[in-house]
Amino acid sequence: MKIKKLLVTGGCGFIGSHFLRKILTETDFDIINLDKLTYAGKLENTADLAKNSRYKFIEGNICDKSLVDKLISEVSAIVNFAAESHVDNSIENPQVFVETNVLGTQTLLDSARKHSLEKFLQISTDEVYGDLPLNSTGKFREHDELKPSSPYSASKAAADMLCIAAWRTFKQPITISRCSNNFGTHQLAEKLMPLVISRALKNEKIPVYGDGKNVRDWIHVNDHCSAILKILEKGKTGEIYNIGADNELANIKLVKLLLKILKKDEKLIEFVKDRPGHDRRYAIDSSKTQSELDWYPEHVNFEEELKKMVAWYEKENF
Ligand SMILES: NC(=O)c1ccc[n+]([C@@H]2O[C@H](COP(=O)([O-])OP(=O)(O)OC[C@H]3O[C@@H](n4cnc5c(N)ncnc54)[C@H](O)[C@@H]3O)[C@@H](O)[C@H]2O)c1
Repeated sequence: MKIKKLLVTGGCGFIGSHFLRKILTETDFDIINLDKLTYAGKLENTADLAKNSRYKFIEGNICDKSLVDKLISEVSAIVNFAAESHVDNSIENPQVFVETNVLGTQTLLDSARKHSLEKFLQISTDEVYGDLPLNSTGKFREHDELKPSSPYSASKAAADMLCIAAWRTFKQPITISRCSNNFGTHQLAEKLMPLVISRALKNEKIPVYGDGKNVRDWIHVNDHCSAILKILEKGKTGEIYNIGADNELANIKLVKLLLKILKKDEKLIEFVKDRPGHDRRYAIDSSKTQSELDWYPEHVNFEEELKKMVAWYEKENF
């Protein structure tokens, strides 16, 4: 299937904005970016794209049926990034996570069915699998049980299930990608890496949850985006694809590494009360995506990539 025009939702956020840049430089697709510009969506993230004649931005909500219907009637495929994405916020206020992540996805699915959309790629997360014990070596596989821990991951798992049901019941051509933790430029300072950098630059205390031993599996945002493009172009409908870079690290080790790069004292670290239900370890097996789609992460020198990213946050004062 040859895509001519693509609807991207949530393109003013962290990952979506990197994906838009990739699509405009590496493909000839036209793009509509539908974004509600919540606190997490920033027009600055896409400022360099605004004048591109193949790019159109629409401010709006993925739950707005008539707007979604109009936009989907103009495209042949959709990539759905739009979401409430911060676990801590989901513990404070789960409702909006259900509205955007669950009802918003269903709104897109309903309209996609009405207009016989040829491809629907749902951007999901490894957090839908729950967590793994710290002393284990196993990794998440695509058909593992879904055991989400937070309202955020539960809402993403619900959206995945609605996509799978759309495939099974209506034969809608959906595909799901599930990626591990992303790092890179343009991420909000509510998330771990930019939070550490922005606090450290101001010599402020850096909060680390619990004992800091929780393990995350980090991937460069551009490697996530290159996998999404491969899935969009070559992925099989009805399939789930894990994305990860085999790069596990305990949070406390990551914080110390960032402080070393920033030449800041570890005394800034302050252990704080653990997040309720905090997942212990994530580890993702992306061998299916690698072997079936010939996709491999390229930004694998972690410390070098962190240095480049830190330099960007220092310069941009983000
Ligand atoms: N950040 C990660 O490490 C990671 C890892 C795996 C998967 N994901 C998934 O990738 C997607 C993007 O994550 P991110 O980190 O870029 O998130 P983000 O919070 O930086 O961006 C989310 C974007 O969605 C927009 N948005 C929110 N609600 C909307 C609505 N109702 N209608 C239209 N737009 C809306 C926001 O304005 C923002 O631009 C999410 O679906 C997330 O679950 C993220």
